[in-house]
Amino acid sequence: MPTDLRLREVVEADLPLFFDFQLDPQANHMAAFTARDPGDREAFDAHWRKILADPTTINRTIVWNGRVVGSVASYVESGRPEVTYWIGRAHWGKGIGTRALAAFLAQVNTARPIYARVAKDNLGSRRVLEKCGFRVAGESKGFANARGEEVDELLLELPAIGKDEREP
Ligand SMILES: CC(C)(COP(=O)(O)OP(=O)(O)OC[C@H]1O[C@@H](n2cnc3c(N)ncnc32)[C@H](O)[C@@H]1OP(=O)(O)O)[C@@H](O)C(=O)NCCC(=O)NCCS
Repeated sequence: MPTDLRLREVVEADLPLFFDFQLDPQANHMAAFTARDPGDREAFDAHWRKILADPTTINRTIVWNGRVVGSVASYVESGRPEVTYWIGRAHWGKGIGTRALAAFLAQVNTARPIYARVAKDNLGSRRVLEKCGFRVAGESKGFANARGEEVDELLLELPAIGKDEREP
């Protein structure tokens, strides 16, 4: 079946859906480095107000066959651009994460190198990144709110265009 994936600016009406996606316990466990309390709507709203007003953060809504299915973003951490994404659980396993990140990197943030952080055991996210050309560039540990403990984390890097980037 042909599928249509688009990225567009985030609008206020997307936020209740993003909040629902954020409530999912399985997704939280997977992502590990999440909001302290995913059910805190006020903190969620404050976070989105902040990132939508921040010119160094680029947010996009992922629309798949006309439905909002998640978000993808880049932000600056310690002076370096990083990407992040979250797909609603009902839409996992259809290639959306990979296609959305590839589209974001091709159309929206073409800065290179660009980085991502992922819990070492988040195999889905790691695979999405590797299919988009990222390679493991480091390892550390950090406190993961979703798990209440320190978790191993990988830093992945997408090097300069032409060096390693390819179609997923
Ligand atoms: C990680 C996430 C983005 C994957 O999205 P998705 O749309 O299901 O990913 P895709 O369908 O593009 O799958 C890409 C690859 O990862 C694999 N994969 C996906 N989920 C997986 C999992 N839980 N375990 C192992 N492999 C997995 C797929 O099989 C596919 O590999 P293949 O092409 O070799 O078959 C999604 O599960 C998610 O949003 N999780 C919660 C939030 C999160 O972890 N965000 C990232 C924070 S770093």
